[in-house]
Amino acid sequence: MSRQTSDWRSYIFISPTPKSLSGSRKTRLGVNYMVASSPFRETTLDGVTLKISQKLDSEYQVGLQNSNALGVGAVVWDAGDLLLKFIATFPHLFTDKTLIDLGSGTGIVGIVAGWVGKSSTVWLTDHESLRTLNEENILSIGNTFRTHFNKTTNSPFIKFEHYWWGPNPLPEAITSSLTNPHFDIIVASDDLYDDKVFPPLLQTLKLITGDRTLVIFTYKRRMNEREITFFEQLEGEFALGVVDLNHFGCEPYTETYIILAGKKGGAVAKIIEEESQFRPL
Ligand SMILES: C[S@@+](CC[C@H](N)C(=O)[O-])C[C@H]1O[C@@H](n2cnc3c(N)ncnc32)[C@H](O)[C@@H]1O
Repeated sequence: MSRQTSDWRSYIFISPTPKSLSGSRKTRLGVNYMVASSPFRETTLDGVTLKISQKLDSEYQVGLQNSNALGVGAVVWDAGDLLLKFIATFPHLFTDKTLIDLGSGTGIVGIVAGWVGKSSTVWLTDHESLRTLNEENILSIGNTFRTHFNKTTNSPFIKFEHYWWGPNPLPEAITSSLTNPHFDIIVASDDLYDDKVFPPLLQTLKLITGDRTLVIFTYKRRMNEREITFFEQLEGEFALGVVDLNHFGCEPYTETYIILAGKKGGAVAKIIEEESQFRPL
């Protein structure tokens, strides 16, 4: 487990606090409508072009569990695409780690963590209505990677499970697959799209994050005052740092950020706090 603390220190430069993101009020969507309307989104990582299935659902649903609508999750959001590039740039961070993708949408972030990052166990989690899309992408993107790697690489463990944020513990299917009760990495990509989801997401993060868990958020700044509220609430129990995207020359989308978090008092928080001290903005 000490690998987790030693390897990402050398790759990531962190600025002190998400408050440094403050700026004018912005309400942009987070994905181009034409790109979202296509049945596929293409992205290229290390020379491999991935064709990710997506299904834009006209019925906009914000975190409604009792609905079969696909909602906002069935398209690849730009913040998710940024995280794919981050994984491809720093695959070592993900290697041999157990990872859970909260609000997996199309499933692509966790799928890339499994194939490119070589994470050992990946759980994609979202509403049950997104199961088919996640499983379709696990299969088709897996085939793309299998062809690319010339079948020499073993297929990673990547599965989907319904998991709804709030007071709910992780499902038995997930916990029984883990030797350590806490995941090494939690990813939450563009999950801050509406403040209705903040309370259950905060509850889940407090519940499932261990002392050695690295939480990775990516998000599109839509309404800064609102999103900062989320991080202020998280800051009560978590140390936070902003990844300096300029450091790895990867800022394809405007006002889209990667934030790292670790439970205060834990190993990950310690690194975030130390890095922040000697890398002020
Ligand atoms: C904007 S989408 C992001 C999808 C994907 N992570 C990406 O970056 O492309 C947010 C996702 O959060 C999921 N979500 C919203 N509220 C949730 C809740 N209470 N529990 C679990 N997932 C939730 C939605 O179903 C949706 O798939």
